[in-house]
Amino acid sequence: MTIPLVTHLGPDDTTAALRADALAGLTSTPKTLPPRWFYDELGSELFDEITRLPEYYLTRAESSVLQTHAAGIAAATSADVLVELGSGTSEKTRLLLTALREAGTLRRFVPFDVDPSVLRSAAAALVEEYPGLAVEAVVGDFTRHLDELPRDGRRLVAFLGSTIGNLAPAEREAFLAVLAGTLVPGEAFLLGTDLVKDPARLLRAYDDAAGVTAAFNRNVLAVLNRELKADFDLDAFDHVALWDASAEWIEMRLRSRTAQTVSVAALDLEVRFAAGEELRTEISAKFRRAGVERELAAAGLTMTHWWTDAAGDFALSLAVP
Ligand code: AVJ
Repeated sequence: MTIPLVTHLGPDDTTAALRADALAGLTSTPKTLPPRWFYDELGSELFDEITRLPEYYLTRAESSVLQTHAAGIAAATSADVLVELGSGTSEKTRLLLTALREAGTLRRFVPFDVDPSVLRSAAAALVEEYPGLAVEAVVGDFTRHLDELPRDGRRLVAFLGSTIGNLAPAEREAFLAVLAGTLVPGEAFLLGTDLVKDPARLLRAYDDAAGVTAAFNRNVLAVLNRELKADFDLDAFDHVALWDASAEWIEMRLRSRTAQTVSVAALDLEVRFAAGEELRTEISAKFRRAGVERELAAAGLTMTHWWTDAAGDFALSLAVP
């Protein structure tokens, strides 16, 4: 079955955003690219593979919190609409959908993601698995299109996987303020956050032995090659993961193996890399309870619940306006 997608990101819009991000990021010092450009069809597949790696504990830890507390979340929220930001395959979300269905309140699911390909397959699978559930998939960028999400019903907005950690602190603040502004009393926000822990474990999660994360990281260069007619040689860049202890975030970078010049034809741009120069492709912030509570409060949201897995690796917060 084919599910219609509501889209706030037409191909032109996406290309314009990519051009602007690539131009700004590749001409700045140090060079950067926003992580959202990882997620073309191959990137979404590689990320899905990451979630099953032995080193990448995040997904399993969050699933375990959901397994234990999904019924409690359903009871606390009585939501009839579940909105999921950055939904991807919506794999873990099934635990929430099932709990809300069992509670008898759920009517509609709105998965929201930048990648139409992953949305299409997730939505098609979900309508089969949850007969009677209205699935309204929305293509969009959660830093730009939150205002356009459906407002009707009693909503639970879920932002899982610690995807919020990809935003820099100022971006998080803006994101949470906009999100909080869309919530009315009776609605709720469910936030997944990876927690600060032994840096060695964190680094392994972002530099796995099988090299899947390295392939995921380099895939952003393939996206630029295809979409902006660039000529990055993916083998000319090494995958780097590092822990910034003062900011408490992981950074992923791509390190140029040699001095080289890359052409980005669609931008009429030549980008020079020194040998060893690094391009930052992602930050993945790690959190503590007090910080999450403070950031939610700054946006006008009150944390009502904080749940972690048994090992204390990952937390889910429930917050209300
Ligand atoms: C999907 C953003 C939560 O930051 O852990 C996985 C993406 N990057 N491995 C994360 C990712 C490298 C992931 N998020």
